Amino acid sequence: MGDDLITRLDETCAVVREKAGWGADDKPTDGVVLGSGLGAFADTLDDLTAIPFGDLPHFATTTVHGHSGRLCLGTLASHRVAVLQGRAHVYEGHELDRVVYGVRTLARLGCSFVVLTNAAGGVRHTFNPGTLMLISDHLNLMGQNPLVGPNHEALGPRFPDLTRAYDPWMNTQAREAAADSAVRLEEGVYAAMLGPSYETPAEIRMLRGMGADAVGMSTVPEVIALRHAGVRVAAISCITNLAAGMSTSVLSHDEVADTAKQVEASFIKLLQAWIERIGNHP
Ligand code: HPA
Repeated sequence: MGDDLITRLDETCAVVREKAGWGADDKPTDGVVLGSGLGAFADTLDDLTAIPFGDLPHFATTTVHGHSGRLCLGTLASHRVAVLQGRAHVYEGHELDRVVYGVRTLARLGCSFVVLTNAAGGVRHTFNPGTLMLISDHLNLMGQNPLVGPNHEALGPRFPDLTRAYDPWMNTQAREAAADSAVRLEEGVYAAMLGPSYETPAEIRMLRGMGADAVGMSTVPEVIALRHAGVRVAAISCITNLAAGMSTSVLSHDEVADTAKQVEASFIKLLQAWIERIGNHP
């Protein structure tokens, strides 16, 4: 099992390479996934080639407002990077293997490192909207796992270890990049819920009791698929709102998008400094 997936990934990668004008030995070092409202980073790349997901064979398209749905290829400080501007979510009705197809493509293109980003609700009381949180670990509460089913032996093992899912070296680079760029970076545990409804206040109290600092509806399936494939992974949440029951305001996707817009400049600054450091990995 797995050959069919590998064939599909190779078909997708062939189209990407052709559109990017890459030679046989060209490959990106770093992959990036940009969450809700955080897509502007891709437009700062040099030598940008942007391919709509719809032009890539086997790619799931995204229906979420605030997600462009493009694979952007370019360079940052002369490092080649591949960026998914937008992602497919489980709550859109996609099968899990469709949700993780984009990051599996990044792995197949040759990325050794992938940085994931998302918008999330703040569960820890001190996390106000606008906080950037380096993810130290996660709680998978989606009730699903992208590795369910026959194992793709060609990609990775049946039972991958997630002890250090969030790469300690990449996290060190993130802390140093944050210090260098004078951006405040918190750290905490991300709880992944299925969505698309936001949580209830009781669920948020439960999550806090379980050790969650932030809550969202993405990222965890991608982290699992990337760790399965042996790719080194790190992730940042942009806290866009206080989680349910923690303020009097009504939760809305507009609030999520507005806050993401407000932190855009510092988010981009941090990401640029971080990706540059990761690209310098010996
Ligand atoms: N809950 C779940 N997902 C989210 C939230 C939230 O409060 N904010 C942004 N994504």
